[in-house]
Amino acid sequence: MTLLSPLALGAITLPNRLVMAPMTRTRSGDDGVPGPMVAEYYAQRASSGLIITEGVYPSRESRAYAGQPGIVTDEQQAGWAAVAEAVHEAGGRVFMQVMNGGRVSHTSITGTERIVAPSAIAIEGEVRLGDGSKAPYPVPEALTIEGLAQVRDEFVAASRRAIDAGIDGVELHAANGYLLHEFLSPASNVRDDAYGGSPEARARFVIGVAEAVVAEVGADRVGIRISPSHNIQDVLETDADDVRQTYTALVRGLAPLGLAYLSVLHAEPAGELVQSLRAEFGGVLIANSGFGVVTTHDEATALVTDEVADAVAVGRHYIANPDLLERWERGAEENEVVAATIYGGGASGYTDYPRLSA
Ligand SMILES: Cc1cc2nc3c(=O)[nH]c(=O)nc-3n(C[C@H](O)[C@H](O)[C@H](O)COP(=O)(O)O)c2cc1C
Repeated sequence: MTLLSPLALGAITLPNRLVMAPMTRTRSGDDGVPGPMVAEYYAQRASSGLIITEGVYPSRESRAYAGQPGIVTDEQQAGWAAVAEAVHEAGGRVFMQVMNGGRVSHTSITGTERIVAPSAIAIEGEVRLGDGSKAPYPVPEALTIEGLAQVRDEFVAASRRAIDAGIDGVELHAANGYLLHEFLSPASNVRDDAYGGSPEARARFVIGVAEAVVAEVGADRVGIRISPSHNIQDVLETDADDVRQTYTALVRGLAPLGLAYLSVLHAEPAGELVQSLRAEFGGVLIANSGFGVVTTHDEATALVTDEVADAVAVGRHYIANPDLLERWERGAEENEVVAATIYGGGASGYTDYPRLSA
């Protein structure tokens, strides 16, 4: 197996195993409508086996960042239809990451009355607002049982819109400290109902969302991303036994659904935890070793050739290298990422990174 081997993934077949990791780039304005520039950006990266879009919000209340795109309105859906069309025309495939930001937000970003989370525990520290100023993270409202059903239904409706827009599938964002991840961690979920307490109870809501989305669009168009022990945004998972039990319960609940893939962000993809979750899942594993070190060609190759994972998600190198696959195939150097233009702004640092042939 090499990075260039094809891979059957749910309803589609990837021509190679280099997956463009989801990356928030916040270039979709106040209305959250991805415009032609966003379509161009993704289409430029169509030689990857699969593009996973940036996290996309399924309701205004769940928006985490100014400039983040949504999949709530007809205009947003039309924007994504143009993205899907551009990527497909360029020969690519694209899943949408559906992301409820949970408590990683502020009402001035969502434009709503409140933000929500499993429990009323604020993140310590400050959130960056749309105008560049900072404010303390607000205390979120703990979701009621009716609220949980609504959040689940928003994931379902968003996924339906994504598929109707011609996107190939959806990735449920249960990683990196956002709402679904908040349910999994005992630091952010102190509920005393059926959705908090034991590892099984904390895993329950995520499984329920996956079941509902699968019922709507089919398991072969649904993947999920998790990040066990990625201690970020106060979603702390520091007790190894609890982590193992929680994620085993989660993956046991997901396995019967037959999802298209499980994507895991973890510092040690070859380690016992990730590999036991993979065995429990029984399907396609996409790996990414996290933010600590930028994924290199060597690491990506080794993950696949050593059969640690079926495919590898690559983030930062995709920002500056639309033709990353071709560069790696030819042993060419990568362009450097310009840090100042990662988030927000226009075409500069977004669609203007040169290809090899240029
Ligand atoms: C600018 C930026 C934005 C990101 N946004 C997301 C996101 O929306 N959803 C997500 O799951 N991960 C996100 N990530 C994490 C990446 O998917 C990836 O896991 C991380 O960059 C580590 O991989 P790398 O070493 O290949 O860059 C983001 C990373 C970066 C650098």
